Amino acid sequence: MVILATNKIRKIYGELENDSYTIALDKVDLTINKGDFIAIMGPSGSGKSTLLNVLSGIDKPTSGEVTIAGEKLNDLSGDDLALFRRKQLGFVFQDFNLLDSLTVKENIILPMVLEKKSGNIINERVEELASLFGIETILQKYPYTISGGQQQRTAVSRALVNEPNIILADEPTGNLDSKSSEIIMECFEKVVNELSTTVLLVTHDVFAASYCHKVVFLKDGSVHSSITRSGRRKAFLEQIIDCQAVLGGRNSVF
Ligand SMILES: Nc1ncnc2c1ncn2[C@@H]1O[C@H](COP(=O)(O)OP(=O)(O)OP(=O)(O)O)[C@@H](O)[C@H]1O
Ligand SMILES: [Mg+2]
Repeated sequence: MVILATNKIRKIYGELENDSYTIALDKVDLTINKGDFIAIMGPSGSGKSTLLNVLSGIDKPTSGEVTIAGEKLNDLSGDDLALFRRKQLGFVFQDFNLLDSLTVKENIILPMVLEKKSGNIINERVEELASLFGIETILQKYPYTISGGQQQRTAVSRALVNEPNIILADEPTGNLDSKSSEIIMECFEKVVNELSTTVLLVTHDVFAASYCHKVVFLKDGSVHSSITRSGRRKAFLEQIIDCQAVLGGRNSVF
């Protein structure tokens, strides 16, 4: 089942008339099915963040269409767009974006409280996610007293509480050491395998990308190539590194 599709999206910054423009995305077609686990990679400036912003409705494409769960994002604005984003999408950021004045549990349940869910349902959901991601013992702690990896697991739980169709993550391992990155990627594997939620992440990290089922490489705003994992993660990691070397840019230097 197709959950997200883009139809020739272009994003142009600046004015075409006076030559001071950048084509950040150029006719990008992307089809994402329910349960997909996809990494977007590409050199700096290739359009990854722009793509994520357009997919999440933060930014409007200059032309082309984004359809999520059968709804055309172009047709939505204001409150409708905000509501759609809250119901359909979960966001995970590089710097966790947790509220320091709230406990881990309060951070996780915030989107449910905004949806006016009942206390019982909220508690059940928190228990389910906390045990899935191994953060049961830190629910009463504050974000600044826990590790980066624990903060990111909290953020992943928060992104999932309202059962979104898709999780969009921007460099989710960017601020984590290698051990915490591994744990977070294993969490995303659970999101896909056990909660059947689609995950799309943007990353520079080949190790993180190797957990995904597919990697899409952008170059100069267009889809350059994509590879699908067929066997062991280690073999996929080698394949990703080879593709990056072909792609060039600063990411080809390790
Ligand atoms: N607000 C903006 N105004 C003008 N140009 C922009 C804007 N945002 C991005 N760009 C340009 O669009 C292109 C794509 O940028 P984008 O941020 O999507 O790249 P990226 O792949 O996320 O790069 P990085 O890996 O460095 O984060 C770049 O040439 C960038 O300079
Ligand atoms: Mg970026």
